[in-house]
Amino acid sequence: MFQQTELLALAFLSFSFAQVSENFESGWNQTAWPIYAPDCNQGGKITLDSTTAHSGKNSIRVDGTGGFCGHIFFGTTKVSSGDVHVRTWLTKRHADICPFPAKPPMPSPILTSPSSPCLTPPKGTDKHLRIGGQSKILMYNRESDDVTLPDLSPQGIATSVPLPTGTWEYFEYHLGTDGSIETWLNGNAIAGLTEKPGVANANADQWQRSSIIPNITAVYFGWESYGNDVNTFWYDDITISGSRVGCNATSF
Ligand SMILES: *[C@@H]1O[C@H](CO)[C@@H](O)[C@H](O)[C@H]1NC(C)=O
Ligand SMILES: *[C@@H]1O[C@H](CO)[C@@H](O)[C@H](O)[C@H]1NC(C)=O
Ligand SMILES: *[C@@H]1O[C@H](CO)[C@@H](O)[C@H](O)[C@H]1NC(C)=O
Repeated sequence: MFQQTELLALAFLSFSFAQVSENFESGWNQTAWPIYAPDCNQGGKITLDSTTAHSGKNSIRVDGTGGFCGHIFFGTTKVSSGDVHVRTWLTKRHADICPFPAKPPMPSPILTSPSSPCLTPPKGTDKHLRIGGQSKILMYNRESDDVTLPDLSPQGIATSVPLPTGTWEYFEYHLGTDGSIETWLNGNAIAGLTEKPGVANANADQWQRSSIIPNITAVYFGWESYGNDVNTFWYDDITISGSRVGCNATSF
């Protein structure tokens, strides 16, 4: 009887605990958290940094370069199927995640400069679901059809928020098996980055034109520049789990 109780407790724990949780206090295990730069990397760098951290003393520092090939990430493929909740603390050095590059306008504004601090490839393809910045706000970009959530109209831009500079921010998103998306910054839901049944999003027209459901195999954190933007990000206290962890969680 006692043994059965123990087993039940373990089963319960394995459901409620994160699938992946990492604070980098034991260092950067590059087998578990390899570098990812699928397209091209023109000089970006990833290092374990012991001079700044959200908790403890270590974080992972991403020095991103500018230019069309300024791509570099680190991440994990330990992502189970089903609902995926990703949370990370992150901070960045420069104000604009993605000011429009000082270049002649390109045919589609969407192609000019999605710079993505986080990136997750859907299963079975090499197309990425990107989360990053454009028009100075946080947004999603779907590589397969290059649309954004929210639409980058003035109304759409107003429904998202910028990622503050120089402070540790708590960023969290949920990808549902039905294609739904929820996103929080410091525990506050971002309306423009919410896309789920029963919740109207007047600025999700482009996104809803396709019935693509992201089915991700990995989660990567880093920097992807399509313009001249150079930036440095630090990531710490990452969890990936089947349910929401929340910013008040005290352990990993
Ligand atoms: C690094 O990660 C790999 C893959 O998860 C694991 O097998 C290995 O034990 C880890 N190494 C250390 C030193 O923790
Ligand atoms: C975290 O805790 C604070 C203070 O108790 C509370 O106000 C806040 O709502 C909590 N946030 C979440 C996401 O649970
Ligand atoms: C996601 O991918 C896994 C394995 O590649 C597959 O078993 C599952 O059916 C896929 N889910 C959806 C919703 O396509």
